[in-house]
Amino acid sequence: MLVTKSIDEIRSAVKLWKRQKLTVGFVPTMGALHEGHLALIQKARKHSDRVVVSIYVNPEQFGPDEDYEKYPRNLDDDLKLCRNYRAAAVFTPEDSVMYPKEEKYLGIGINELNSHMCGASRPGFFEGVVLVVNKLFNIIEPDLAVFGQKDVQQFRIVEEMVREFNHSTELVMGEIERANDGLALSSRNAYLSNEERLKAPSVYRALSYLEKQIHDGVDEPSLLIRHQQNELEAKGFKIDYLGVFSLDKLQPVEKLENKGNYIIAAAVYLGETRLIDNILIENEQVI
Ligand code: PAJ
Repeated sequence: MLVTKSIDEIRSAVKLWKRQKLTVGFVPTMGALHEGHLALIQKARKHSDRVVVSIYVNPEQFGPDEDYEKYPRNLDDDLKLCRNYRAAAVFTPEDSVMYPKEEKYLGIGINELNSHMCGASRPGFFEGVVLVVNKLFNIIEPDLAVFGQKDVQQFRIVEEMVREFNHSTELVMGEIERANDGLALSSRNAYLSNEERLKAPSVYRALSYLEKQIHDGVDEPSLLIRHQQNELEAKGFKIDYLGVFSLDKLQPVEKLENKGNYIIAAAVYLGETRLIDNILIENEQVI
């Protein structure tokens, strides 16, 4: 397995594979790898001949008061896992390689996909994600890239970026890997105290409850949502958002239609830790 910080080295490895007519899959990550990331690597392996994983805690997607400094970093463990899951290469660039200049980078408008959910509460977050993913796609030029449904807004925005910048990379969505009690796996779960960890699965339970009600015919779920919010707050969660959004435009939805595709999504704080989760309701296959 090639491990490199160098753009030239990762590029020549990919070029060689492509000359050999091998397809290249890509899984971008910020490291602290867990079963969710590993499932994406497995999925990428299924769909391509060689898999490149990037491990880079991207400073541009953290707000000034967010957890950039304390974000978990375990490169040695991560590399072992990548080896076990038979990644062909791991790209671990340094800030000076990704962001060689001091001044502001070219921004791009993400428009309405950014106006709700995490985009509304983390200003600049998705601009930072698009900046780094766009650079990584230009460096690696993968045939396909796998992103998790866990960050469904990220997936939709990266889809838009691929269209906007005419990347030839095909996007594949990986399903959400969960702990036995339903909690979506996340590098940030490491911040939870024992007591918080026991409470954390309530978020998925609230989403699952709403999913069941919607499947059973509820088409205006706002009161049920309010009720779930209150229950979570009573347990000590601070709600950033909990609601139903359209999958295509990521806008809040008051009334669901039979044919629509929706996301039931939540972002909550448990102490200092921000947790997100979602369930897709797909009535028409689009992704
Ligand atoms: P990171 O949070 O490390 O996540 C990397 C990939 O793993 C993302 O596509 C994310 O959706 C996926 N993932 C996270 N938890 C998952 C779970 N429980 N099950 C399945 N997949 C899961 O997302 C980022 O990094 C960054 O924004 C990045 C795209 C690397 C750009 O910096």
